[in-house]
Amino acid sequence: MKNFYLTTAIDYANGSPHIGHAYEKVLADAIIRSRRMEGVNCHFLTGLDEHGQKVQETATQRGMAPQDLCDLVAQDFQKLCSRLSIAYDDYVRTTQLRHRTVVQSMLLRLHAAGEIYKAPYRGLYSTRAERFVLERERVDGKWPDDIGDVVELEEENYFFKLSRYQGWLVEFLQKNVNFIIPSFRQRQVVEFLKEPLNDLCISRPKARLRWGIELPFDAGYVTYVWFDALVNYISAVGYGREDFFRNWPADLHVIGKDILVPAHAVYWPIILHAAGVELPKQILAHGWWLAKGGEKMSKSLGNVVKPLDYIDLYGPDAFRYFVLREMAVGQDSNFSHELFTARYQGDLANDLGNLLSRLVHMVRCYADGRFPTAWPAGPEELQLQNRATETIRLVRAFYQSLEFSSALGEIFSLLQETNRYAERRAPWKLAKRASCERELETALASMGEALRIAAILLTPAIPTAAQEILRQLGLPAVSNWLDLAWSNALDGKVVGEGTILFPRVEEAGALSPL
Ligand code: ME8
Ligand code: MG
Repeated sequence: MKNFYLTTAIDYANGSPHIGHAYEKVLADAIIRSRRMEGVNCHFLTGLDEHGQKVQETATQRGMAPQDLCDLVAQDFQKLCSRLSIAYDDYVRTTQLRHRTVVQSMLLRLHAAGEIYKAPYRGLYSTRAERFVLERERVDGKWPDDIGDVVELEEENYFFKLSRYQGWLVEFLQKNVNFIIPSFRQRQVVEFLKEPLNDLCISRPKARLRWGIELPFDAGYVTYVWFDALVNYISAVGYGREDFFRNWPADLHVIGKDILVPAHAVYWPIILHAAGVELPKQILAHGWWLAKGGEKMSKSLGNVVKPLDYIDLYGPDAFRYFVLREMAVGQDSNFSHELFTARYQGDLANDLGNLLSRLVHMVRCYADGRFPTAWPAGPEELQLQNRATETIRLVRAFYQSLEFSSALGEIFSLLQETNRYAERRAPWKLAKRASCERELETALASMGEALRIAAILLTPAIPTAAQEILRQLGLPAVSNWLDLAWSNALDGKVVGEGTILFPRVEEAGALSPL
């Protein structure tokens, strides 16, 4: 059986991880975990994009060999992934032999098929964007930020015959209307394809750039970094080997909106098609995290969110919860410290954390530390039970359609409902009256069951906390939710020692103001 194969962008090795990198990996991880909870076998790939001019320049500035720089940066990015519980199966680095050989075999194949030719080229080159740019890309006469300074350059290079496939790609997108999600992004691609495509320059003379994969048919050149980077999606799963098809075609490429057009939506499908490789099934272009006022985060503005600061202070699950809850997948969002702390305090510490501590405490005080059996449900319990059943259905559907914010919203409204139920039943009052033993037992069992269901549904978003909740309820970790339903799974289970899942955080200026 083929795996559900998900990839992320591979991060550039010329900087340190920021919230955008962290978000994308969390999003991808939540998708993978939700699929696994549906019983689907998955393969999750992420990695590092190590070649190219910027990496070479950064290494030179720091007086290091490029490979040494990449090794350091790889550690930073992998450390971030492990702090965030990103359960990837494989981490690809484009300097690995397994990757370089596949890039070269793709190039040979396309070259042999007459898809690559050599020609002189004269044009305006942007070091920042690492590509030749066109006059028409000026905005109000100026080069935009992502292009920066340009210089005029003439050189001989190798070109991939991108333009001849323009018609094919347009037709492909017409037939596959869900190839790119959200759908407004696919419309942008279609719009982009109304202008004629140029062929793609896929080489860089070694005189200008040494840090890259040598062209297999001309040792005077290295491969253009985007061609190199895109190939990671097939190199990492063994393109050319029999077991390649255990994973390929990819089910989902998760990337940010800035690298959709032209790299992922134009170059990549055409490269694959020209090489006779099946296309990925879908591309998800997520939005961007912006600084508080909606402006772009940038080092020069000093408004970059360092995910590790938040993770260190509030914990990995709080960070994961915040980004998944706050950003509607595909849209941009502003990162604000106030919103973060409001979610932390209101949702995580109060609605979820307090419910768990109160419940464990009550089970220990009023039931000798064991969950009692519920008596036949009254109207209050039936209401909670129906609500939980409906939550399970909705949340599974929201995860399936990648609506994480809505999924989490549903789970937290179940938790709020459970808290209201607790207030109405007031087990602490029932405990004082001998005649209310049944009501007390039913109340504790019902609260526990609602919390059990919520914790299982929260697993893809906050895996560590979810597992801790289950442990405190006396249950083992769960690996799927296929037959999750209101039940008496907690009967007789021994609760844990109690815990504060999301403790009060003393900030004391630890975070720079946003
Ligand atoms: O583009 N908010 O690497 P990268 C959300 N190496 N996502 C953001 C973001 C933000 N503020 N800033 C960046 C590259 N991203 C290439 C990819 S793939 C074959 C090669 C996202 O380190 C960005 O959209 O610049 C991209 O998906 C990912 O972070 C890595 O960006
Ligand atoms: Mg970038």
